[in-house]
Amino acid sequence: MYSKKIINRFKNPKFAGEIKNPDAVGEVGNIKCGDIMKVFLTIKNNKIKNIRFKTYGCVAAIVSTDFLCEIVKGKTLKQALKVTNKDIVKKMGDVPPIKLHCSVLAQKALKQAIKNYQKKKKK
Ligand code: FES
Repeated sequence: MYSKKIINRFKNPKFAGEIKNPDAVGEVGNIKCGDIMKVFLTIKNNKIKNIRFKTYGCVAAIVSTDFLCEIVKGKTLKQALKVTNKDIVKKMGDVPPIKLHCSVLAQKALKQAIKNYQKKKKK
């Protein structure tokens, strides 16, 4: 079902884990499949300095989040908000159609984290 690239990344994710005292956290879930994603951010000068994730879900969910982290690390918040699930899928390569929603979930987790950060900043 999954390509070699996806399986390899699943076995060796680069951004799995947690950040202690993150500047922002975003958490989303999909009721239908039960998968949950949590994204942790460290932000400096409006840029994503560090990013980690914890995903409880399928292979595509884990790999989507890992590639998302790779794409947005070092980007400004504005640039990161423009990243779509299509960008994630492009990085992943061959994604089974039934697993496309996993990349949408990853994108939502990041957006949630950035939203939470911006809300916190306004207070
Ligand atoms: Fe739902 Fe992967 S099956 S996020």
